[in-house]
Amino acid sequence: MSQFQFQATAIVENVQMAARIYRVRFEAPEIAAKILPGQFVMVRIANAFDPLLGRAFALYDVIADEEGNPKYVDVVYQVHGKLTTRLQQMEPGQQLEVWGPLGNGFTIPETEHLILVAGGIGQTPFLAVAKQVLGKQSYGEGEFTQKPPQKVTLCYGARSAVDLAGLKDFEATGLELKICTDDGSTGHHGLVTDLLDQAIAERIGSPQVLCCGPEKMMEAVSKLTAERDVPCQVSLETPMACGIGICFTCVAPVLQEDGSWDYKRTCVEGPIFDACQIAWEHA
Ligand code: FES
Repeated sequence: MSQFQFQATAIVENVQMAARIYRVRFEAPEIAAKILPGQFVMVRIANAFDPLLGRAFALYDVIADEEGNPKYVDVVYQVHGKLTTRLQQMEPGQQLEVWGPLGNGFTIPETEHLILVAGGIGQTPFLAVAKQVLGKQSYGEGEFTQKPPQKVTLCYGARSAVDLAGLKDFEATGLELKICTDDGSTGHHGLVTDLLDQAIAERIGSPQVLCCGPEKMMEAVSKLTAERDVPCQVSLETPMACGIGICFTCVAPVLQEDGSWDYKRTCVEGPIFDACQIAWEHA
């Protein structure tokens, strides 16, 4: 199990980003100094018995203090269920318990064209990815020395224009933003896989894909990237109770070398897996 910090902390900001999507910032310098793109933290409301358990939230960003030292962690959440309903009502100064960094994080590929594919609230982990690969910010304790891609494209799908969160944050990184909505209220009227197919068809070097979103979307992206022979990592959003490998609430079916499959804990063996490792028919 990786080293993680448990921290009682106070909310610094809790702001609305889209229709039911909010960003909460809390002070957690030890976590902020170590966390990498694609890793997550568990968040629990301090002194609460309902909900008793915490929830997993992917890293959105790390914010530094005036001296440039990592100090605050931002996570993004969609109001859905008890914890996020309570969280949305909380004010700066109110207390949380957080533990992290958790999970494996993305293996950032060296590629000419990095394509990020997000559905629903799956854009969350990609701000830190884009900032890191485009040299806008570094995360964790090591130095990031990879050559930047020629192009980073974010293909981002949501139900409607009001559900798209953080577009200005993403645009500020310098990536190319491709939007689609189910209702056609903005961007392409259709599926995020349509945008992904267009991005792959640009044939910029050997593209690689990172994907996060609803399971059906990730399965479709996994199928498309396999057909196009493009490597793809997926970030699984399974429910998690402990985040540290103890409770087994977070298992996902993962293919073994002999072709059989077995359940793996996404909190410690994931949440990032190669898309071709997931036994989607058993998910
Ligand atoms: Fe408890 Fe993964 S969340 S084992």
